[in-house]
Amino acid sequence: MSAKIIDGKAFAADVRGRVAEQVAQLKARHGLTPGLAVVLVGEDPASQVYVRNKGKQTIEAGMNSFEHKLDASTPEAELLALVEKLNADPAVHGILVQLPLPDHIDEAKVLAAIDPAKDVDGFHISNVGLLATGQKALVPCTPLGCLMMLRDHHGSLSGLNAVVVGRSNIVGKPMAQLLLRDSCTVTIAHSRTKDLAEVCRGADILVAAVGRPQMIPGDWVKPGATVIDVGINRIPAPEKGEGKTRLVGDVEFDSAAAVAGAITPVPGGVGPMTIACLLANTLTACARAAGLPEPEGLTA
Ligand code: GUN
Repeated sequence: MSAKIIDGKAFAADVRGRVAEQVAQLKARHGLTPGLAVVLVGEDPASQVYVRNKGKQTIEAGMNSFEHKLDASTPEAELLALVEKLNADPAVHGILVQLPLPDHIDEAKVLAAIDPAKDVDGFHISNVGLLATGQKALVPCTPLGCLMMLRDHHGSLSGLNAVVVGRSNIVGKPMAQLLLRDSCTVTIAHSRTKDLAEVCRGADILVAAVGRPQMIPGDWVKPGATVIDVGINRIPAPEKGEGKTRLVGDVEFDSAAAVAGAITPVPGGVGPMTIACLLANTLTACARAAGLPEPEGLTA
């Protein structure tokens, strides 16, 4: 069997298009423009690229983008004061503080300071608790993107065996909660799981989010399973020339694609969905703040 390749790039473009349509409707019917504030502290090159892409895609979706770039030496109190200001600003519906933060800043304290109604990352304890108890939350963007792709491929996920490899707060745990909410039978596996290969072989849906390049080979994949590879790992690629690198996922793509029913590639799978879902969450936060109906097809 040769797997269907789930095209995350095309899927993300479709999500962004649907967000843009609903943003245009909000403007026309209610005079509302969703606004996303992104805060970057310091000059981490990867974070700068992320933030630039977020700003560009926010504007392309017809939303307002507010960027706050602070010096790496910014005191924690100053960052907290900015978060308070954004919490109180009615033009800002979503707030994202880019991680990682410099060492002198307490990340948990900053995330806790964000108004949960504007927490488009879904990292605030209130949103984590709302998701875990099946209530209306803002959901972390990467797992939301994975869920959208899974729903699109399967229709109903009800009764399927889902194995999430990885237990991070950003991907593994919220992914498991979302799959449970869609009535999957969910296993969270991790580095201490006994006989991980056998656990993976039981999965109708296998989500890999461990951050270890090509850790999951094809013979851990159940024939016909759907494989969602969240990993983005840079490895040496001497075949491309000296000092060259390439991106790979947590799954060994070629061997897994030979047995899976469907699989996301790296790059071009889950990655592009994250910013698309950030835009979706910003639209959702804006609609909720105004007491309007939930955006269609863009929430968990
Ligand atoms: N750094 C890398 N990815 C993310 C993300 O999704 N959200 C935040 N806040 N920081 C990040």
